[in-house]
Amino acid sequence: MHLDALLILAIGLALLHFGFPLAYYCYLKKLWLNRPWDVRGDSEYKPRVSIIVATYNEAKLVRQKLDDIASQSYPKDLAEIIIVDSASTDGTVEVVKEWIADQRDVKAKLIEENVRRGKAYALNIALEAAAGDVVVITDVDSAWPSRDTLASALSWFSDPLVGAVTCLKIPAVGGFVGVERGYRDLYNVVRLCESKKYSTPVFHGELAAFRRDLLVQLGGFQTDIGADDSHTATLIALKSYRAIAVDNAICRELVPGKGYHMWRIRRAQHLIQHFTKAMKLLPKAPREFKLILLAETWLHLFNPWLLLATTAILLYKALTGTAIATILLVAGIALLLFKPYKTWIVTQIYLITATIRNLWTKEIAWKKQEKS
Ligand code: GDD
Ligand code: MN
Repeated sequence: MHLDALLILAIGLALLHFGFPLAYYCYLKKLWLNRPWDVRGDSEYKPRVSIIVATYNEAKLVRQKLDDIASQSYPKDLAEIIIVDSASTDGTVEVVKEWIADQRDVKAKLIEENVRRGKAYALNIALEAAAGDVVVITDVDSAWPSRDTLASALSWFSDPLVGAVTCLKIPAVGGFVGVERGYRDLYNVVRLCESKKYSTPVFHGELAAFRRDLLVQLGGFQTDIGADDSHTATLIALKSYRAIAVDNAICRELVPGKGYHMWRIRRAQHLIQHFTKAMKLLPKAPREFKLILLAETWLHLFNPWLLLATTAILLYKALTGTAIATILLVAGIALLLFKPYKTWIVTQIYLITATIRNLWTKEIAWKKQEKS
């Protein structure tokens, strides 16, 4: 048995594919996880806030979502809720109208679009009507488990350097929770460490808060890509403001039971659109952000392809009779029994599929996945 050049290449690519994220994770965790924050949240700080809830066919969940917002401890006189609906066909608007009519001390208004042009477009319409110092975006299929989630998230804006804040995530019950949970554990550590170091380029629709004046300066949310929250946060970080995921605001998200794979692929498509655009701005990034943005761009756009290349080479070598290639392939498959590894591989498959799918559809107005 001897190693030829192709086999060495395959092993090299595999080492890079697995080694880079591992090194990045270890670096972040070791250096940043236990460091104190260098920005400070003041729990007494209470900015005026506009909470925007975009809805498209959310009749089943929207009431619960609005109740959840209304039960927050945040002072009612400092908050307004703006629901922006894009021509839902399932009676969402009626449910929202009823809910608004039932409120006494909650300020809430509904804006109705008559055509659906996607979430970002709807957010921009709501933004025009928003009066808060801070604008919070929250998806209908998400929950804020504590009464203080909003207050905790907003407290960080007491630091004038903080331009955007998002939550960490725990998946709620639903299909494929095993994979989803494995993915989230690693993922929250990365988000938090990136935020302590400088800023994270991945934000969450469960709670994404932005200084309104920065949103206005940016001309609102970009409507030609899907990841409205992450891209906007990144643009804010590029302006030398901090865009952070904070450990005192944890949100829950419903995971779809049916259509889980499509859901993950669509979201990967949006992240790829985001990083493809953000990558071009890398030279302008503040020094502390460069490594983070570069690493995440690499992880989303390029790293998955190394795995594909390794697999292709090993498969070719195995089929042409190289025993060591067969052994490596079988080992790679056997390792799927090990959950973190499986979670990783599945994510790579979503990213690759998403890149290909982006060639013909950007999923700006996406098909809804039913959440349980
Ligand atoms: N007004 C309006 N118009 N709202 C919309 C539209 C639209 O065209 N499309 C979706 N929404 C609303 C949904 O009703 C929901 O409240 C929120 O936007 C998010 O939609 P989901 O269908 O729950 O998408 P998701 O959870 O998979 O999307 C996640 O990824 C997106 C980017 O990939 C979230 O994090 C989103 O916030 C994020 O933009
Ligand atoms: Mn969602």
